[in-house]
Amino acid sequence: MFRLRTHSTDPVTFSFEGRRLTASRGDTIAAALLGSGVFIFRNSPVSSSPRAPFCMIGNCYECFVRVEAMGVVQACLTEITEGMKISKVSNLIDESETGIKESSKR
Ligand code: FES
Repeated sequence: MFRLRTHSTDPVTFSFEGRRLTASRGDTIAAALLGSGVFIFRNSPVSSSPRAPFCMIGNCYECFVRVEAMGVVQACLTEITEGMKISKVSNLIDESETGIKESSKR
């Protein structure tokens, strides 16, 4: 489904779960992570099953990640920037961070 990226002409360095990665400037966080071989962005708060981007257009909310100094964002709608520190969202998402209740995401 996704092809791992082997090079970038305008690289941006960022980290995910402490792992240093590179992406192309202008990529979304979701594209940057998927292109780096990261396929689990969070775990479901209900079943703890692994979740990853599905729609890539901001509709499914499966791509939540936590970005230092930004909070929880939709990875498919947020551009990667130099030095960004990204981590998985824990099982217990504070709905005040996202403004979206888990039950309304279906
Ligand atoms: S991948 Fe669906 S909202 Fe981001």
